[in-house]
Amino acid sequence: MDGYSILIQDQHMIHEMIQSYFDKVYTSFEADIKKTLHFKGNEIYGEIFYYSAIKLIKYLGVTPEDHFLDIGSGIGKLAFYVYFASQAASVTGIEINSARHAIAIQVSEVIQTQLPRMFEHREFSLVEGNFLESNFDRTTIVYICSTIFSYDLLEKIGLTLNTMPHIRKIASFRKLPFLSNFTCVKKMLIHCSWERVGCYIYERNI
Ligand SMILES: C[S@@+](CC[C@H](N)C(=O)[O-])C[C@H]1O[C@@H](n2cnc3c(N)ncnc32)[C@H](O)[C@@H]1O
Repeated sequence: MDGYSILIQDQHMIHEMIQSYFDKVYTSFEADIKKTLHFKGNEIYGEIFYYSAIKLIKYLGVTPEDHFLDIGSGIGKLAFYVYFASQAASVTGIEINSARHAIAIQVSEVIQTQLPRMFEHREFSLVEGNFLESNFDRTTIVYICSTIFSYDLLEKIGLTLNTMPHIRKIASFRKLPFLSNFTCVKKMLIHCSWERVGCYIYERNI
């Protein structure tokens, strides 16, 4: 086997290990997670699959200089995937739903206890709150699993992101209005827990 094939095989094994580790950790919270899937009766929770997250991270070209923000981080999966599978300087998730955020925090405590060295030189944080009332100005890459967001919320998020000075890329499952400082460069097909959906990738205008 040549060097390239060994590298690919190694990467594949590492991703298998990361994925099965997260599956195991989240399985232990299954009963609590089930209770938070439906919120106010009509909001259904969904999340991106691990391999789709890897595809997205590669496409976004996340670097050690990046500050990654997941708007609506739910129970934290995507934020953990990005933290473990990239070299981003910081990964932050903000979640408005207290029950989901509480699970994300418990999962975080388990992972930080089991793998403390993973958290030594970079930042990982999960914040409870409304993105629209927060300040994440250092952010360079934004991810929004916005499939069920109302148009009003998308408008407010679009207006806010458009004024954030350091953002270079945005990935959103719904088109975002008012992003005059950005251009949609691609629609990627992504496997999520509910179906395969398009994810819009925006880059800052030069
Ligand atoms: C589809 S889930 C996200 C799943 C998560 N990003 C993942 O892939 O693992 C979308 C989340 O956005 C949250 N949300 C909606 N509006 C929000 C806001 N204004 N600020 C923060 N979170 C919000 C919802 O409560 C929901 O948990």
